[in-house]
Amino acid sequence: METRKKDHINLASQAQLFEQEVADSFYYEPLLTSNELKPLPKTKFLNKELSLPLWVSSMTGGTLEARKINQNLAKACAEFCLGMSLGSCRSLLESNDRFDDFNVRPIMGPDLPFYANLGIAQVEKVIQENQVDKINELIFRLQADGLIVHVNPLQELLQPEGDIYFNPPIETISSLLEKFEFPVIVKEVGQGMGPKSLEALFRLPVAGIEFGALGGTNFSLIELMRSNDLMLEEMGDWATIGHTAFEMVEFINLLPKELVAQKQIIISGGINPLSGFYLKQQLQAPSVMGMAYRFLKYAREDYNQLRNYILMIQKSLQMAQNFLHKI
Ligand SMILES: Cc1cc2nc3c(=O)[nH]c(=O)nc-3n(C[C@H](O)[C@H](O)[C@H](O)COP(=O)(O)O)c2cc1C
Repeated sequence: METRKKDHINLASQAQLFEQEVADSFYYEPLLTSNELKPLPKTKFLNKELSLPLWVSSMTGGTLEARKINQNLAKACAEFCLGMSLGSCRSLLESNDRFDDFNVRPIMGPDLPFYANLGIAQVEKVIQENQVDKINELIFRLQADGLIVHVNPLQELLQPEGDIYFNPPIETISSLLEKFEFPVIVKEVGQGMGPKSLEALFRLPVAGIEFGALGGTNFSLIELMRSNDLMLEEMGDWATIGHTAFEMVEFINLLPKELVAQKQIIISGGINPLSGFYLKQQLQAPSVMGMAYRFLKYAREDYNQLRNYILMIQKSLQMAQNFLHKI
């Protein structure tokens, strides 16, 4: 007790919040509930059930470290009933050598949503070569529920070894949907999408979209940092182009309701539990919050660190459920 009181006196000087830092996204109602934390309701997403409205966004594969990361992430999904998508499975289209890095369905079990991932350039190539069955086989081998296609034009153009694709992604996705047997989700990788791209996507029979919005991990910046100082200095502005998750929620809410109601949305791009809770409340479509980097940080270390982090997210969401009301 005495130490606690001393801490309060010593820490007060560092604990001054200035007006502009105060979150104004919710009404905070401290008098209406106890502070006992209650279980969160289950979330139905992509025809399966999650215990937390959380998605492990596409990250990695193809290295030994990636295998350990994917296995830790899948173990967390199994323990907390979360959904997960793999990082780009491009290498598996050509060979099975790195299959074990990605093979986490046995860890997740059959009841959670699990998606493979390919870039739009690979999808275009497979379609041009009339080999869509290669993707069907990939999904089958991984026992995945479907495919997430990432659309990343800026990343491809800013990386020295980037791929060029020749058709508008919306046409490639449309062709894929005609020939492919599984659900498809489309995402960006950190710069989001504007209203016209979103509307065009919502008009296709995709199962859903993932934002990959501007605000968190930024692949233009990663590629610029991988290139050279001149590129970083002169083309650095490209890392600021795009749309935040806040903007994307507004764009989607302005679309005709019948377009939006059937789609499943993964809100991602620098999301933390409070911003995710807020955006989920605002968005007029079924959604979960997706995170990549925040999970990666802990999944690289050991399973317990990842587990503790997810317990913290759970606590934050339970606190939000008690005290935060929509404005
Ligand atoms: C290390 C790393 C690798 C990633 N690799 C992929 C990928 O292969 N395919 C993909 O669609 N997105 C990939 N992403 C992007 C994420 O899925 C996500 O859209 C983006 O990082 C925003 O989430 P965040 O801000 O929570 O990190 C990767 C992200 C990270 C951090």
